[in-house]
Amino acid sequence: MGQDIDPFRAISLSVRAHELKAEGRRILHMEFGQPSTGAPQAAIARAHEILDSDAMGYWESRPLKERISRHYKESYGVDVSPSRIVLTCGASPALVLALATAFAPGDRIAMARPGYVAYRNTVRALNFEPVEIPCGEDVRFQLSAAALDALDPAPQGVIIASPANPTGTIIPAGELAAIAAVAKAKGIRIISDEIYHGLTYGPEIHSMLEFDRGAYIVNSFSKYFSMAAWRLGWLVSPDEGVKRTGAYIGNLFLTAPSLAQHAGLIAMDSREELDGHVEVYRKNRELLLETLPKLGLARIAPPDGAFYLYADVSRFTNDSLAFCLKLLEDTGVATAPGVDFDPVEGNRFVRFSFALSTPEIEEALEKLVPWFAAQSTR
Ligand SMILES: Cc1ncc(COP(=O)(O)O)c(C=O)c1O
Repeated sequence: MGQDIDPFRAISLSVRAHELKAEGRRILHMEFGQPSTGAPQAAIARAHEILDSDAMGYWESRPLKERISRHYKESYGVDVSPSRIVLTCGASPALVLALATAFAPGDRIAMARPGYVAYRNTVRALNFEPVEIPCGEDVRFQLSAAALDALDPAPQGVIIASPANPTGTIIPAGELAAIAAVAKAKGIRIISDEIYHGLTYGPEIHSMLEFDRGAYIVNSFSKYFSMAAWRLGWLVSPDEGVKRTGAYIGNLFLTAPSLAQHAGLIAMDSREELDGHVEVYRKNRELLLETLPKLGLARIAPPDGAFYLYADVSRFTNDSLAFCLKLLEDTGVATAPGVDFDPVEGNRFVRFSFALSTPEIEEALEKLVPWFAAQSTR
């Protein structure tokens, strides 16, 4: 029998948000991390052309693999042969492929807590054991080489995420190098989830490939490229993993959607439009960082990237799910409870996604200000 895993609680909250919307309420969706912008215009135009001219079939786009390979050279200065790239239906199957090909049942996989809900649940679903490393505000919610090194026994694998979900914090280059060194010394295989690359607000971003050629790299068109619904992503596997990942993708998932692959290739050269979205998120981030402390949410690690802000709400509640539900019912602002990301400490956190338009963020803040002022503190 398969393992029981937790549901994503933000989904039940979103279902309630949609019910309220159907009743005519104005809802502002800050619960999910998905851009409200569509795919780049040129990518959509390409999809129309393909629909009109190509019957399509199972397909792996060689030009897209070559373009992704070029991206690694241009953005990080690393050589990645197209043969090491597997195109997937988003980062989610890329994570499944990396875990399933690199580890044996029962292996222990370390990860930061808080972290993306699917890490521990996917690890469990595949019969591995999650080892959660508590990472508090003092370490900006991020995994360090020292924390990885301190695990005894050493795990077989580690998942790192920079920028991270739910906090948007990054791991600086020096620390990535130190994590790679610990992993090498202890035989720990690294999976690096780089889905939020492209969405940063200052600090330089680095790929784990710059420090560890043996790492598995997960990425996707869902975030920076604003194409979540197209279901397209990729996995870079180390040379020794190529044969196995090829066999696994073929058997488990066949191919990524052909239409999305055509459009994704064009999206990779739609930088101007996509960077425009990043500027909107930058403004939204500033607005939130300016206003939330005035609401009593002062304990926030300012996000370096992604489009999330993880705020400590312990002044008001010790039940973040009930708190988010009340906030939704009273104001129409949907947020994600921290318990999704951290089963231990998450009851005192809420994640705000700011992947909306700036007028929507302003509208949300207008509702949040009086609502928080009316809440009693504990
Ligand atoms: C950190 C992280 N990894 C992976 C995913 C999965 O993304 P997708 O399957 O849409 O590419 C998400 C989605 O929110 C995420 O936040």
